Amino acid sequence: MSGRPSGLNKKLQLILNSMAKNKNDLMDKIVALCKRRGFVFPNSEIYGGLASAYDYGPLGVELKNNIKKSWWKYFIQDREDMTGIDGGIILSPKVWEASGHVANFTDPLVECKKCHQRFRPDKLDNATKCPNCGGQFTAEKRFSGLFKTTIGAVEEEGLTVYLRPETAQAIFADYKNVLNSTNKKIPFGIGQIGKAFRNEITTGNFIFRTFEFEQMEIEYFISPFSAWNNIFEEWLQSMYGFMAEIGLDKKKMFNHEIPAEERAFYSKRTIDLEYDFPFGQDELWAIAYRTDYDLSRHQGYSGENLEYFSEEEGRKYLAHVIEPTFGVDRTVLAVLGEAYQEEKLAGGETRVVLKFKPALAPYKAAVFPLLKNKPDLVKKAREIYEKLKNNFYVFFDDRGNIGKRYRYQDEIGTPYCITVDFDTLEKGTVTVRDRDSMEQTRVSEKDLVDYLRKNLEK
Ligand code: GAP
Repeated sequence: MSGRPSGLNKKLQLILNSMAKNKNDLMDKIVALCKRRGFVFPNSEIYGGLASAYDYGPLGVELKNNIKKSWWKYFIQDREDMTGIDGGIILSPKVWEASGHVANFTDPLVECKKCHQRFRPDKLDNATKCPNCGGQFTAEKRFSGLFKTTIGAVEEEGLTVYLRPETAQAIFADYKNVLNSTNKKIPFGIGQIGKAFRNEITTGNFIFRTFEFEQMEIEYFISPFSAWNNIFEEWLQSMYGFMAEIGLDKKKMFNHEIPAEERAFYSKRTIDLEYDFPFGQDELWAIAYRTDYDLSRHQGYSGENLEYFSEEEGRKYLAHVIEPTFGVDRTVLAVLGEAYQEEKLAGGETRVVLKFKPALAPYKAAVFPLLKNKPDLVKKAREIYEKLKNNFYVFFDDRGNIGKRYRYQDEIGTPYCITVDFDTLEKGTVTVRDRDSMEQTRVSEKDLVDYLRKNLEK
């Protein structure tokens, strides 16, 4: 269609523009809140920062640990067919030759001859000059996504090793040891949480794509004679189950079936689980059918027999693998985006609140004395704080006034605020304020631990 946009098209465009702006605004607000309250800081900021690198602050580390804890319980500890390992970041370089990463973990890139910035040709929209400085491009070359380093005192003579680009490979390298040291029988899976490193060309969107990130991965070993498609489907459903567990909205998740020509070199089927992030829809997690690609490569390169004898099936085989994989940092970003709410209060004020699932909230409760200049109240509040501390991660605050303390706890997503007042001293009850409803309930001090435990499980 040519000519001027119709009135309807204009309206549609305005709506789309305003939706995009709201998304950008939301992303900016989350980034600002993360810094202000200590969830995520720019890495090495006092030196001007390092592009696409972030640190988790005092609350971010709690949120991230709680996500990892939930994942570990959900996928490893609650399932008899699963177990876990914690492999090295640096493995023998032979692992990465066998896995195919040394040869294949590359991106086709062109480099600007003037400013030396590198670009993926498919992202250049047919531009023939550098969008940064107008310089000419080199011919297309393949650049490795692996970070290299050297083991040994003398760099030139040292052993070149790689920082792992995925946690998965330690699982394949340890597969036989796990089988020999546990009672696991196929089908069973091994999970692992840890850092991964990629020399990414396109980075950005805050903690969405960075050089250093964390993965939670599962390699689920199955018989090559089993119906892999059904097991793939079951794992996909489990991933949706975990999504609900951590409070992500299923309606914001989209299965993106990756066509054969775009799949990673090891995969026979991949679905990216894309999520509607504050900045737009993109890959959150993924699931792949890696066949026996990895075990057969490691068997070939190491010379170790990695076959499994199945008593039930009465035969030997190399196991096939279904791999559900989860980025921790992208999960943190999704959880933050989902939890972030702005609510108009009766007086016209807006409250910002992070409505985390209680299991993910950095602090489970905060304890305040109503007035900080009343020693009896402060002493009693401290006593209650000490008691709760044995059961939950709790925060003590006697700064400012109660209103400000509530606002602060809302912004960091603390499910309950407990205020100690004169009735506490006389009648042994405290006020418990619920983060989401803002309702206040009087609870007897002796019932407080049970009350919180029951409500935090919701
Ligand atoms: N072992 C398979 C594998 O590594 P992947 O799709 O390349 O598959 C798995 O990565 C997950 O790791 C992604 O779904 C994403 O959540 C996360 N991830 C990958 N690259 C990342 C990056 N540069 N920054 C942050 N997270 C990343």
